[in-house]
Amino acid sequence: MAGAATLAACAPKTDLTGARTVDQVAPTTAPGEAAAPTPAPPVVPGQTDELGDPLTSFENVTNYNNFYEFSTNKEAVAGKAADFVASPWHVAVTGKVRNPGTYEIDSILAKYAQEERIYRLRCVEGWSMVIPWQGFPLAALLRDAEPTAEAKYVRFETVYDPEQMPGQNSPFFPWPYVEGLRLDEAMNDLALLATGLYGETLLPQNGSPIRLVVPWKYGFKSIKSIVKIELVDYMPESLWMAAAPNEYGFYANVNPEVDHPRWSQATERRIGDGGRRPTLMFNGYGEQVASLYSGMDLAANY
Ligand code: MTE
Repeated sequence: MAGAATLAACAPKTDLTGARTVDQVAPTTAPGEAAAPTPAPPVVPGQTDELGDPLTSFENVTNYNNFYEFSTNKEAVAGKAADFVASPWHVAVTGKVRNPGTYEIDSILAKYAQEERIYRLRCVEGWSMVIPWQGFPLAALLRDAEPTAEAKYVRFETVYDPEQMPGQNSPFFPWPYVEGLRLDEAMNDLALLATGLYGETLLPQNGSPIRLVVPWKYGFKSIKSIVKIELVDYMPESLWMAAAPNEYGFYANVNPEVDHPRWSQATERRIGDGGRRPTLMFNGYGEQVASLYSGMDLAANY
């Protein structure tokens, strides 16, 4: 299963600006699969991340996606997800908490003030983007759930809806998509529950109506279209750990010194930009998160 179930299968193909070619793999788009164009909202001119890097275009952010529930072809996801109905939508907050509950998405949006966070997103495949998200800290929701002393990890689940998500009919993956964080990682202020980007409500291809964004970890940790957040006392096994345990670990911290078994992580390609740039430890967020891992062997805990 591991061979077919690796993210390398969807390694970057073309830059959507059409200006440059990125990592070449065999094209997989079937005729008629191309993503429908989405009108781009106005970009605030000159907006950058805190390192001075410009935002990735709205078009690239919304048309170059990893969302295996719809397609393993990044440029086909938006088109296949276009009719995804994410309403009604409920998120269960459950497990080792004093205050469990199931919440309608609008009540979540009403309860937690949405803020903008410009984050780098670094995919384990070796490409990256700079994305202006809207959302709220995961910590706020977890605090309201009141984790008990037994809660050590947070386990997240994507909706299981094979009628709407054709990829979930594939036997190559143990659906639904699952991810996890250690509780202290989840409580870090950088961990965001995103509900929008570029000032717009999240589109289906980006994980509507609510997805995780963990910017210091490889993008696969940022699970989309979440319906369940469970506090547990064990390290959750993610979909990728189950599918290819030799390639994907629990921590998945961006680390230029720990290579993926099949490709180097030393450099990355910024989508919409030319050339490769050095990968930053913890994707450039070390000041905020390095202390979470003090004393840990990050090569063993990949
Ligand atoms: N979440 C689900 N449910 N299914 C997926 O296939 N892909 C992951 C992550 N979350 C994925 C997912 C990967 S590999 C990446 S790089 C990011 O989503 C991509 O997010 P984006 O398409 O919004 O840029």
